[in-house]
Amino acid sequence: MAEFARRSAETLASIREQGLLKEERELQGGQQPVIRVRGREVLNFCANNYLGLAGHLAIVRAARRGLERWGYGMASVRFICGTQEPHRELERKIAAFLSMDDAVLHSSCFDANAGVFEALLGESDAVISDKLNHASIIDGIRLCKAQRFVYEHLDMADLAKKLREAKSAQNILIATDGVFSMDADIAPLKEIRELADEHNAVLLIDDSHATGFFGPEGRGTPALHRVKAELLTSTLGKALGGASGGFIAAERDVAALLRQKSRPYLFSNSLAPPIVAASLKALELVEKGAKLRKRLMDNTRRFRKGMEQLGFTLKGGEHPIAPVMLGEELQARQMAEELLKEGIYVVAFSYPVVPRGQARIRVQLSAAHTTAQVEQCLSAFGKAGKKFHII
Ligand SMILES: Cc1ncc(COP(=O)(O)O)c(C=O)c1O
Repeated sequence: MAEFARRSAETLASIREQGLLKEERELQGGQQPVIRVRGREVLNFCANNYLGLAGHLAIVRAARRGLERWGYGMASVRFICGTQEPHRELERKIAAFLSMDDAVLHSSCFDANAGVFEALLGESDAVISDKLNHASIIDGIRLCKAQRFVYEHLDMADLAKKLREAKSAQNILIATDGVFSMDADIAPLKEIRELADEHNAVLLIDDSHATGFFGPEGRGTPALHRVKAELLTSTLGKALGGASGGFIAAERDVAALLRQKSRPYLFSNSLAPPIVAASLKALELVEKGAKLRKRLMDNTRRFRKGMEQLGFTLKGGEHPIAPVMLGEELQARQMAEELLKEGIYVVAFSYPVVPRGQARIRVQLSAAHTTAQVEQCLSAFGKAGKKFHII
């Protein structure tokens, strides 16, 4: 045992020495645009709280009502005694919102992605995945027995090549994030769909960074590109209330099969009733959320324009993730520290999360930010950028 602990300590020390240790700052309160950290109020610009629903009063009330009406937890998986009426209602409403037949709730989108490939693909099948897909897609693919292919990020010529290599497979599945969260770039779904059709492949899109706020009426990247995917996975942990939970939306029989075969669905507890109740409310707010989405997009445009005028380089386009490119790891870390001193909470991302020499601060806008808060963030970036001679 002592040996085991010693080796763990060595690994940990090596992570620290490489400057890769992830520190957790404890918030002294709820998830809001203004948060309290170490006794100080700061503006939060790094949550996935796109529509500001994580701390929304209507959501908190819905969760409380759900708690009182349906109880705290299910103490069961879905097929034993863990399915309540609201679980099915939420699945039906998610499916209708995304124009799919049905949806299958999981404890997280990570679990949805961990379960979907192994449940649907066997040895005679093939899966083709974008190189920069989310970790949960990568892990889900590792768990299945299908032949695996990886295409270069967003590279359609390489995808076509991999499709040709996979042509003897019985089922071919292409998997892509709808929005890639590190660069805020969007998958070229029209081209991917065309290639899929040409090669008789099915398409899985993980739309965690789009559902509820991106694309027409917040219906995500398939609606934005006017394409249909056979499988859509997404999270309840970002725009849709920000608690936890995920789902796979699919055609009716595929969803029915997933209920029989997705291991995280079969062998992990049902989503807790207060989360289900609050997610139903979140979906209702999303469906009449034109104002929230406009506010989010206005904030995004204001921030991006302001940063470019200051002389910063940003990746991405219209998405509320605004990666501010800083290059050197140390510079990104120092900038984030300086910004915190200025009252802006943001996080620096460096290697191995992003390629070496492409360190960045990933700013995330929310509908809950006021114009004054966005301006305050811009002014802090301006000050810190000048201090470190970045602009
Ligand atoms: C693209 C993508 N897929 C899946 C997940 C996992 O979602 P969840 O938090 O519901 O497990 C995330 C969250 O970071 C994500 O960004």
